[in-house]
Amino acid sequence: MSELSEQAKQTIAEHLPRYPSKQAVTLPALHVVQKERGCVSKKAIHEIADLLELSPAQIHDTLSFYGFFRTEENPLGQKRIWVCRSLPCMLRGGEELLAELCSRWGIQPGETTADGKVTLELAECLGACDGAPCILLEDELHLRVSADDVQQIAGKP
Ligand code: FES
Repeated sequence: MSELSEQAKQTIAEHLPRYPSKQAVTLPALHVVQKERGCVSKKAIHEIADLLELSPAQIHDTLSFYGFFRTEENPLGQKRIWVCRSLPCMLRGGEELLAELCSRWGIQPGETTADGKVTLELAECLGACDGAPCILLEDELHLRVSADDVQQIAGKP
């Protein structure tokens, strides 16, 4: 059975005419797969390689170069929350916010809660320093958040 859904294969195929080479579609393809499955498994790496006529090693090199992608050993939770760790946010409560979230959820940055609901990540400046401390949930920016706000945003009891 294929690891990539028909939808994922189709989306990757739609990227092909927009890029100068099949190799250039590696990054978009990794995004498509991770978005759908929460990680890029070894099997998915092979299937992407087949689609792009590259070696699995080439796909893996790109995957491992960016800290953004996860493998099946360390998949993402249902929600990925990025806490800004740059100075303005840290000075305006971000440090305490991060410590509180780690404590409440029993995880460190880069880890996922035991119930699989949330992956906590560290971000560099999110470009909204006047709203410090801030977090990013998927593509959505949240400003002046407290630990309770984040807990609610994350859907954690
Ligand atoms: S320092 Fe956090 S948004 Fe700029």
